[in-house]
Amino acid sequence: MASKIVGLGMHAPPKKLTNHDLEKMVETSDSWILERTGIRSRRIADPGGANSDLALIASKRALADAGVRPEDIDLIVVGTCTADMPLPSTACFLQMKLGARNACAMDVNAACSGFLYSLSVADALIRAGRGKKALVLGSEVLSSIVDYTDRSTCILFGDGAGAAVLAECAEGEGILSCHLQSDGGLWELIHCPGPGTVNPLTPDLISRRMMYLRMSGNETFKHAVTKMADVAMKALSENGFGIDDVALFIPHQANLRIINAVGKRLGVPPDRVFVNLEQYGNTSAASIPIALSEAKAQGRIMPGDLALLVAFGAGLTWASALIRM
Ligand SMILES: CC(C)(COP(=O)(O)OP(=O)(O)OC[C@H]1O[C@@H](n2cnc3c(N)ncnc32)[C@H](O)[C@@H]1OP(=O)(O)O)[C@@H](O)C(=O)NCCC(=O)NCCS
Repeated sequence: MASKIVGLGMHAPPKKLTNHDLEKMVETSDSWILERTGIRSRRIADPGGANSDLALIASKRALADAGVRPEDIDLIVVGTCTADMPLPSTACFLQMKLGARNACAMDVNAACSGFLYSLSVADALIRAGRGKKALVLGSEVLSSIVDYTDRSTCILFGDGAGAAVLAECAEGEGILSCHLQSDGGLWELIHCPGPGTVNPLTPDLISRRMMYLRMSGNETFKHAVTKMADVAMKALSENGFGIDDVALFIPHQANLRIINAVGKRLGVPPDRVFVNLEQYGNTSAASIPIALSEAKAQGRIMPGDLALLVAFGAGLTWASALIRM
């Protein structure tokens, strides 16, 4: 057996943080942000808002789209790097809130690649006969780890959740492949130093603002372009497809210049590249399932179409999935 996506849903909190709002918080401008990133606005959860609450709304929408009941779900996998609490997992909170009493639940932390890593875990477990239906999420409250005094990062990130319901299908349908790659040697490029075992919670950690995300933007940018293009090409070549077979290319929504550069390397026409980062910014693990969900709702991707999904994030991690919708 293989697995396929039978339902999709997304949720973004209503509160918007626009470029003009950021102009009042740090030394930046709407034109700089738009030109360098393509982002106009992002959605921000209320302070203390639980990641699992965003995930819950996206999950209910995906289950309704699939016509599947919470109790029919065998497995919940949440891709996130901004969990409700250090433990238990956000997936367990989601299971409780959803009433998915027959599911086992776990988080996967692969930062912005979290949804594709989670999709791969769920697909592999279904293929191994360890469940028939799975709920897979990318869900983040990035605003909880963003330093709103750092103009090089606070302009980029937003909050949101996207969910997919997977069900068994015949081999050759649905998820055709998942390719996952990591390079822990490049961890310093994007990281959040603490609190953790290396940098425990102390007044010093707080005064040095080490609980916030740090990023070397320029260096990260170069890796994102080459690695996303490489792993996308791997998905195509290993399945015997060319870029012309792909109905819609859905890249991680980090920066419009990264998306354009990857699209150019792959030779994919702009009208077959899905972009929605203008309204949401970079929502990390949530970016791909939000995009996929919107692409379906807008009729940009139809049953039988081939979709190529590509992610990149902290770790470093990067990944692709080739999917027959
Ligand atoms: C962060 C990013 C937008 C910065 O864009 P950039 O074109 O690389 O800009 P640079 O970092 O080279 O900075 C250029 C100048 O703009 C300044 N700058 C940085 N952020 C700014 C902001 N928000 N507003 C105005 N100026 C800013 C810098 O200080 C620098 O000034 P200097 O030349 O006087 O030193 C870009 O590097 C990026 O998107 N990187 C990848 C991020 C990413 O994908 N991360 C997540 C992966 S999941």
